[in-house]
Amino acid sequence: METPSFEAPGGVGRGAHGPGQGARLTLTRPDDWHVHLRDGAMLAQAVADTARRFARAIVMPNLDPPIGKVHEALAYRARILAALPAGARLEPLMTLYLTETTTSSEVARAQASGIVHALKYYPAGATTNTAHAVRDLRRCYPVLAAMERHDLPLLLHGEVTDPSVDVFDREAVFLERHLSPLMRAFPGLRMVLEHITTRAAVEFVNASPDTLAATITAHHLLLDRNALFDGGLRPHHYCRPLLKRADHRAALVAAATGGSPKFFLGTDSAPHPRHAKESSCGCAGIYTAHAALELYAEVFEKAHALDRLEGFASGNGPDFYRLPRNQDRITLVKEPWRVPSTIPAGGDVLVPLRAGEVVGWRLAR
Ligand code: DOR
Ligand code: ZN
Repeated sequence: METPSFEAPGGVGRGAHGPGQGARLTLTRPDDWHVHLRDGAMLAQAVADTARRFARAIVMPNLDPPIGKVHEALAYRARILAALPAGARLEPLMTLYLTETTTSSEVARAQASGIVHALKYYPAGATTNTAHAVRDLRRCYPVLAAMERHDLPLLLHGEVTDPSVDVFDREAVFLERHLSPLMRAFPGLRMVLEHITTRAAVEFVNASPDTLAATITAHHLLLDRNALFDGGLRPHHYCRPLLKRADHRAALVAAATGGSPKFFLGTDSAPHPRHAKESSCGCAGIYTAHAALELYAEVFEKAHALDRLEGFASGNGPDFYRLPRNQDRITLVKEPWRVPSTIPAGGDVLVPLRAGEVVGWRLAR
């Protein structure tokens, strides 16, 4: 990877005063290691926004019905490619939805397919479209053994769903209750703890062997749980795992900007139509694909670590997945722009993060 190039009135590296307006930051084109592109009406918008910034994306399989088999992943991949705007490129890296009936032969087929790059564990009932997901992880152990043999990574929605556990503690409890035993049982299985939200998760990943990595979203780096109740109930800040206290957010920023290869970019951008969010029982998910890299740039700028954005966004993910780093580059400009208050998506609209407000970086045209 070439070093990121800065053309900056004021300089954009660590310890600098920070880049002035109009500063340009050029880096290796990043990948999104966790995104929800959906299907049908929503697909085109999510694909277009993702392809504008990212070369590849790990595509989550929680459709209704879920993508559980290789032939379903192949068909979904074709729909994603068909939804790309003319001239746009995106390589969808497909995943399968793990269930208690997933077979070891499906794992072998997934590995041989060349298009499936991981299986995704959701605890049943944790979030959007998880009714078919896993109730007892131990029932999946034979399949996890097959994944370990075939060297296919396991992606973890790391929360327990035990109703007796406080909803803000569900990630921390998952670490002790499920992840520690999992790591002991399958020392060779590569795992990604997705969308981490707590200091406990950061410490767990840092203390674990290199088989364990983690993705961090832009929204968990930018917001703490106060944002859920800022002047009233804010459904567009509701996601799973939930936003946490400010000290956890600080631990996530330190992990993302600290230069460790174990942490990389995964937006968890998750579009829902506005009416499904603004509801008496609203869906979890925050849409960030319209400004994903720009929002991460804000975080790294504030931490005086723009020189580390490239490793987090473009280097650590491909290294973990054992894929080549991208060759082409992308340029961000420090120039504020206003996010629209809604984005049309199919026949509906969605409300993106920062709706009606300003983002400090934009993509160079
Ligand atoms: O907030 C979330 N939304 N978290 C998830 O894990 C799933 C996602 C979705 O698919 O809407
Ligand atoms: Zn997700």
